[in-house]
Amino acid sequence: MSLQDKLDELGWLGFLRCSFSRLKLRALRLVFRFDPWHADAPCACRPYKQIVADSIGQLVPRGVVEIGCGLGDIGHLLRERDVAYIGLDAEAAVIAAGRYLRRGLDLRQGSFEHLGDAGADANVLLLLNWPHGLASSELATLANGVPAGFDYLVVDLIRQDAPALGFTHRHTVTQLRQDGLQASLLTLVERIDPVRDLAILKYERALHPSLR
Ligand SMILES: C[S@@+](CC[C@H](N)C(=O)[O-])C[C@H]1O[C@@H](n2cnc3c(N)ncnc32)[C@H](O)[C@@H]1O
Repeated sequence: MSLQDKLDELGWLGFLRCSFSRLKLRALRLVFRFDPWHADAPCACRPYKQIVADSIGQLVPRGVVEIGCGLGDIGHLLRERDVAYIGLDAEAAVIAAGRYLRRGLDLRQGSFEHLGDAGADANVLLLLNWPHGLASSELATLANGVPAGFDYLVVDLIRQDAPALGFTHRHTVTQLRQDGLQASLLTLVERIDPVRDLAILKYERALHPSLR
């Protein structure tokens, strides 16, 4: 995205906030050594994170677990909305930095295999900004494997018309369902940023307890 595009998207004040956040996170990265993506993508630079938090808030969830939570940006925004949240991430360094940055937010190193412990009271699973690295069948299988208490799956989908920016897969709900995903589309929030939509899906086993 060009500088002009970013200015158009954020405005001057937003652009300054974004630049300041990036500087702060780049300094934090010198200590914690987390993946550079996180220093480049704070909430101030990615306004769609607010849309994700608002959309989840509208579900009035019992609790949210995010897998691949990074620094816990969405957890931070959900905490402002009084929504219970646990963030899991495979990368130890980003979890350490997130705990430092977001004191008191429940961030843990882990992944799908830890959902049983982490998600006991939660009913929303969030996957944001990384599922495009998975093949559709892989994503469907992982999403199906979550404990029965989860009612909703929230996931970003790279748009078919998005420019080629290194996204390996561009999932559609139709394809995910053909690959066996046991969840149906509740809401598609289109174009939360220039390259992605946000899909809010309801697990079908929540509708059909016999499938649990
Ligand atoms: C691009 S970042 C997105 C962070 C956060 N969701 C956000 O949007 O700000 C992707 C994160 O997902 C984590 N991740 C990728 N695959 C994962 C998996 N299978 N289990 C747990 N974490 C994973 C990576 O370690 C990385 O921190």
